[in-house]
Amino acid sequence: MCGIVAYIGHRQAYPVIIKGLKRLEYRGYDSAGVALLNHNIKLYKKKGKVANLEETVLGQDLEGSVGIGHTRWATHGEPSDRNAHPHFSATGKLAMIHNGIIENYAPLKQELIKKGYRFKSETDTEVLLYFIEEIQSNNDCTLEEALRIALKRVVGAYVIVLIDQDHPDMLLAARKGSPLVIGIGKGEHFLASDATPIIEYTREVVYVNDYEIAIIKPDELVLKNLGNERQTPFIQKLDLELAAIEKNGYAHFMLKEIFEQPHTIYDCLRGRLDIGQGVITMSGIQNNLEQMKNASRILIIACGTSWHAGLVAEYVIEDLCRIPVEVEYASEFRYRNPIVHKGDMIIAISQSGETADTLVAIERAKEQGAVILGVVNVVGSSISRVSHAGAYTHAGPEIGVASTKAFTAQLTVLTMVALLIAKERKTISNDRYIQLLNELNEVPEKIKRVLDNAAHIKEVALKYKDALNALFLGRGYNFPIALEGALKLKEISYIHAEGYPAAEMKHGPIALVDESLPVVFVATKDSFYEKIVSNIQEIKARKGKVIAVVTEGDQVISEMADDVLPVPEADELIAPVISTVPLQLLAYYMGVAKGYDVDKPRNLAKSVTVE
Ligand code: F6R
Repeated sequence: MCGIVAYIGHRQAYPVIIKGLKRLEYRGYDSAGVALLNHNIKLYKKKGKVANLEETVLGQDLEGSVGIGHTRWATHGEPSDRNAHPHFSATGKLAMIHNGIIENYAPLKQELIKKGYRFKSETDTEVLLYFIEEIQSNNDCTLEEALRIALKRVVGAYVIVLIDQDHPDMLLAARKGSPLVIGIGKGEHFLASDATPIIEYTREVVYVNDYEIAIIKPDELVLKNLGNERQTPFIQKLDLELAAIEKNGYAHFMLKEIFEQPHTIYDCLRGRLDIGQGVITMSGIQNNLEQMKNASRILIIACGTSWHAGLVAEYVIEDLCRIPVEVEYASEFRYRNPIVHKGDMIIAISQSGETADTLVAIERAKEQGAVILGVVNVVGSSISRVSHAGAYTHAGPEIGVASTKAFTAQLTVLTMVALLIAKERKTISNDRYIQLLNELNEVPEKIKRVLDNAAHIKEVALKYKDALNALFLGRGYNFPIALEGALKLKEISYIHAEGYPAAEMKHGPIALVDESLPVVFVATKDSFYEKIVSNIQEIKARKGKVIAVVTEGDQVISEMADDVLPVPEADELIAPVISTVPLQLLAYYMGVAKGYDVDKPRNLAKSVTVE
């Protein structure tokens, strides 16, 4: 979703901002713009990619060591040059960028229209900027004071950054609900939606908190709350390598991230899983183990792929810990009147740690006294900070919009959490515990074997790339993997795909089956194997084309299916981490074969910071 970059210091701002906007392209956007301050404000913006903006500004005056830049994912008003950010204030003395949604923009706009203001765009951002300027002129106060007054009236989520022609040595920023990181350099500051545009300049960063205003000068960073009280900036060191946010020879970030999985799972296990001692160490979890052990129920809240990880966790936790688990879409949970009992434990899962629906759902659950355990990938993100306890997935930056390595890392972390709780509750035998620890330890090696088969998966992908629809079926632990396989295919290749529990097929979807429908079965050897063999027969009897993810050496399904994607044998509880990988590759190769931009699929955003 919208990306923000801003700079103040001794360098030329434009190159820093453009490079930063390119680093944020993965978030998804449909227009881009930049405003530079050098005596007066020069503003350039363009529908489309950052590259279009670069063409537009060729030969223009790009001087200035203060500037703001933005990639916009349209909410209020279509993607267009006019609606792109930054926006000018009514007098043209201020310019502003905004990420988030001002929910009460309509009454504010009416108020301003009555006073004679006319707007150039359809955005909520322009309304907020005019409102701030109106307050400043009415109250004859500083811009900082006007901003504080305005923000007290604003309903919604925002990160905003302002430049002021009358104060060329200052940037003003504020945050509520959307992310903002400030990088601290020598005589310079960098602002961005996440750390990726900042990493090559400095490792010292401050994550701005909700309801804080930042007054930023080249040599000074002041944080205040909306009550005008100074806050102490908490400076953190970024633990991120530049290589992690570059493609390193891969055609796409998505492919790189799929191939990184042996390494990311290893990183996720490292320091936690001690095979020699037969123990798992996760301090964030262990400090709250008593509450988790005694939880009468576990509620999992998440969206999209993270929700699928939650579904796998439901099977694993109920199986190993014998605690009832419910998995909720965060977007539904937040708007219902959910029942959260004292003693319930909430697990919130999120790659970005910024998903607006998940964040608000956490707030709702906290209001009812729940303890929140965050399973998050992005270090320092909002969800990691509002959780009572947590475990990072340590998958590293995920740039491809479709989640791949973050998903397998989520599954790994959630399995370790379940094992810790089960051990504490004594609902698992020591032999089974040790067996699963060993199985987890073998996952990186087994994923490597799946990746070695990428050329075959590509062949299968090319064979089916022209399908219009696809069905993904699985049972038990493999059912959520079928859902995830379908989601990957639809978002990357735009082929309509549905995931179902295999047995549910008879209750409706089987009507779709004919010789043109590929049906992907996740059919590894587990306790449902015989049942899924029958389901495959039912599809073959209706001339459907069967692609099956099978355990290496499987003879029975291999003879029935049109194509098989073998994966190494694994315990059924661990198998999902492995059997999801061929489906990621299948989606990737189909998307590429169809000529789509798999790293930035249409209409999608990496970090969904609006509801
Ligand atoms: C799909 C995908 C999305 C995200 C969802 C939640 O490939 O990436 O479905 O899983 O938007 O995002 P996070 O995990 O950042 O909360």
